[in-house]
Amino acid sequence: MTTELNPEIGEPTETVTSGSVDPLTLVATGSEWWRSAVIYQIYPRSFADSDGDGLGDLAGITSRLDSLKELGVDAIWLSPFFTSPQHDAGYDVADYCNVDPRFGTLADFDTLLAASHAEGIRVIVDLVPNHTSWDHQWFQDALASPEGSPERERYMFRDGLGENGDTPPNNWESVFGGPMWSRITNPDGTPGQWYLHIFDISQPDLNWENEWVRAQFRDILRFWLDRGVDGFRVDVAHGLIKEDGLPDYTPPAEAGSMGGGAIPLEVEPEKLDDIPTPPYWAQDGVHEIYRDWNAVLSEYDGERVLCAEAWVEPLNKLARWVRSDEMHQAFNFTYLSANWSAEELRLVIDTSIASFATVGAPSTWVLSNHDVIRHATRLSLGPGHLQGDGIGPRDQDRPDPVAGVRRARAASAVMLALPGSAYIYQGEELGLPESIDLPDEARQDPTWFRTHGERYGRDGCRVPIPWEAGAPSYGFGPADAAWLPQPAGWDEYARDSQSGVPGSTLELYKLALVLRGENDLGFGRVEWLDDLGFGSDVLAFTNRGITVIANTGTTPVELPLEGLGELLLSSAPVTEAVLPPDTTVWLRAA
Ligand code: NOJ
Repeated sequence: MTTELNPEIGEPTETVTSGSVDPLTLVATGSEWWRSAVIYQIYPRSFADSDGDGLGDLAGITSRLDSLKELGVDAIWLSPFFTSPQHDAGYDVADYCNVDPRFGTLADFDTLLAASHAEGIRVIVDLVPNHTSWDHQWFQDALASPEGSPERERYMFRDGLGENGDTPPNNWESVFGGPMWSRITNPDGTPGQWYLHIFDISQPDLNWENEWVRAQFRDILRFWLDRGVDGFRVDVAHGLIKEDGLPDYTPPAEAGSMGGGAIPLEVEPEKLDDIPTPPYWAQDGVHEIYRDWNAVLSEYDGERVLCAEAWVEPLNKLARWVRSDEMHQAFNFTYLSANWSAEELRLVIDTSIASFATVGAPSTWVLSNHDVIRHATRLSLGPGHLQGDGIGPRDQDRPDPVAGVRRARAASAVMLALPGSAYIYQGEELGLPESIDLPDEARQDPTWFRTHGERYGRDGCRVPIPWEAGAPSYGFGPADAAWLPQPAGWDEYARDSQSGVPGSTLELYKLALVLRGENDLGFGRVEWLDDLGFGSDVLAFTNRGITVIANTGTTPVELPLEGLGELLLSSAPVTEAVLPPDTTVWLRAA
């Protein structure tokens, strides 16, 4: 490996070992599976329940693998199933190397892994390094140990301000609402130090300046790599290091709680470091951690992958997370946040591909996950819905379910035609909307509690998915009720209502994935079709001989079908020569 100056980022980076950049077109090249993969996110508690306790589990996932094989995905990413008190649905880990009994056992995990591999499906697990659960033995040891002890040094403990130390060390606000600090009580009953938690009070932040913490995580990576996992989705990969001195900070109102949201798509490379950065997000120190992990993964065969959940903008700054000696992929939340607008999408697509290509990485594409309003709902809402806030009965801005799913299908048909790696969130292949009218007493997201109901949070996108129309819990499991209530009227979304039904959302996804695979679109490149004479509401490009045209506007556009060839796929019915609003088609030249 050699070191050279990266032209875009302007700082030394290792040269690409596997992928590289085509200097003429600025497109990343390389052949690893993750560069083009379609990765399906499983939220285990809401996927399939095998034992009837109303909560999904690992055995449930194994029992439904055939449907994922049929869908045609390359890999699954499992949200956390580790030992946890579940105060943040498992993103509060009490033992990184064991399975929570609610989800099964390590043996169940091994069975799932082997069964997935037998089907040719790779498995990515979720790593949550920014914080542990307060139940983790490390935190319990810290509480039982004196100030300044090695056990305390593993977390972010600080003295409070003021005469009695009863004011938090700074003004930071937790992502879930309320202060980012909580005060402990010493073993002798006196008030003690404060600890930092970017998220819930039950999720104390680890101190990543501490070498002991780093060593533990190398071991955790190896534990799962030895078991045979294909990689890790890394939670809050922009949060591990905090600015020296922990200075006060108030985020701009338009920024989402995870960061991002207020910055242009890209910034001149030399000005990247001038962008105001919250003292707890996107600090430079995170990168040496990922270089270290990259080295751990390199010890293993089989192209293991690290994918960053980093809400970092602009895109050319996010590219730092996927330099060739760091992570391999980063979720493209700029794409997720883009409006359904041809002009905006084109800009984001171009900027994404170019930004990641400067470091030899592919772009990823994602429209939904367990933290955001499902895109079948979101795409019919107005502006102003910040990440993580969700939507609920009191919101004035009600979605239009028909327009929402129509746009979602059209948007997914664009996403699945793009080169790079695409993420699908369980249920989106069914056109599943957000569940908006959850009763208050059913809500479980800490955001709801910490903001006293002011922000609904993310429960609405986490409702267990429907498998069978008319069955108890829509076939999610043998129990009548699931951990979050499923709305009436979901029969139409159930997998068995859609399977084999021409025109269903499920069949649309299946067809898109077959065509994507057959034509190797994940390894292709986008070439814009400007000479077809469409207006600014139409997105038109080719990728490996497939022409993709999406009408994001409100009026039909004429489709010169004759010149464009055979219609392969359409997200909504098209008549011969007209592309209706909110519709995407794929065509192949005859
Ligand atoms: C991001 C995860 O996606 C989210 O669900 C979780 O609440 C936070 N990180 C904290 O781990």
